[in-house]
Amino acid sequence: MIPADLVVSGISELATPEGNTALAGPHTGRLRIIRNAAVACHEGKIVFVGEEAECIETVQPTPDCTPVDAAGGTVLPGFVDAHTHLPFAGWRETEFDERLKGATYSDIAARGGGILSTVEAVRKMDRKSLAATVRGRLNDLLAQGTTTAEAKSGYGLDPDAEIMQLEALGDAASGHPVQLATTFLGAHTVPKEYRGRRQRYIQLILDEMLPQVAKRRLATFADAFVDAHAFSVEEARLILEAAKGYGLKVRLHADQLADDGGALLAAELEAASADHLEFASDEGLEAMARAGTCGVLLPAATFFLMMDRKPPGRRLLDAGVPVVVATDFNPGTCPCESMSAATWFACLTAGLSVDEAITATTLNAAHSLGMADQVGSIEVGKRGDMVVHDFPNRYHLVYRFGIPRITAVVADGKRVV
Ligand code: NIG
Ligand code: FE
Repeated sequence: MIPADLVVSGISELATPEGNTALAGPHTGRLRIIRNAAVACHEGKIVFVGEEAECIETVQPTPDCTPVDAAGGTVLPGFVDAHTHLPFAGWRETEFDERLKGATYSDIAARGGGILSTVEAVRKMDRKSLAATVRGRLNDLLAQGTTTAEAKSGYGLDPDAEIMQLEALGDAASGHPVQLATTFLGAHTVPKEYRGRRQRYIQLILDEMLPQVAKRRLATFADAFVDAHAFSVEEARLILEAAKGYGLKVRLHADQLADDGGALLAAELEAASADHLEFASDEGLEAMARAGTCGVLLPAATFFLMMDRKPPGRRLLDAGVPVVVATDFNPGTCPCESMSAATWFACLTAGLSVDEAITATTLNAAHSLGMADQVGSIEVGKRGDMVVHDFPNRYHLVYRFGIPRITAVVADGKRVV
């Protein structure tokens, strides 16, 4: 008999991708489906996945075992949110109102609003208060079924404030059930005090920020925003090549508002991911497929920016790029932390099927973070991360859009919600 300290039973349908690597092309939507299922965990890891009848015969609950009754619900892997800007301060609802009245995101950035207004708010925070803010957000993510998340700096834009953001992420995540992967985004935009001296700011990233981030192991990834209001391809290449030299892996904000050649740069750098991609060229997507770079769609942000372009879901699938779907949670372009919402937009605006969206928000997202051997699917040996949804099968995840119906969250083999 297999000992278990947590058993989820009463599952009408369990759906999960399988394996330790991303699924691409026609394989993307290949899920294992088990009806009348049960899952058992022991000491944080999954020890049994299968039919409930078999579970009863092979699993021995320990005396202190936690039973979780799914009550006829659907069990999916914990969501992996591969793109967030978690350590922000303040909201930007007045800019949102301006956008509703016709201003564009780029107009607001050009007059010093947007990212720079959040930078101002973050610079007024200290490590402790920012960590407390992030901790609250991690609780919210967990309640929405996210058990692993990526989080970026990028609202400090000077050595102290960038490092303070990364430290706050570490403080908030320490001992928290949500596993965090951290990304240094000093190249989010050029801060006000370096306007007209952008070369000096880039030198500051190269000479001061990157060495400290690497030496203190404050981040796994480095990211840059390639855009007319942020950095050119040449500037991003310089920064991210240096980051690679320090052992950091690379992600990229690419081709969000125009075809800037971001997808091609991501492929050239063998980046773990290129994110946004609304305007990516066919050539760029083909290069990403060859390089094994994941394409991260942020369809809630595309929607929230009221863009005419749709997120290129089918184009990525057809090109053979592993597709990831994430929130982009941030105060400017996606003030929504729900991965359920990201799946609604992925299916309804980016053309993914429900099964493809499930893989894109779990296994493929984990792969893009280099964590697919530990999380992203419900399989024996992986971390015990799963979500009970109050509906009879996975299609309802998107079919009944508008309200997440999460009734229980298990993270690290413990019931946390
Ligand atoms: O991913 N595109 C650039 N960065 C963020 C927006 C950050 C902000 O507006 O505060 C994004 O959409
Ligand atoms: Fe982003």
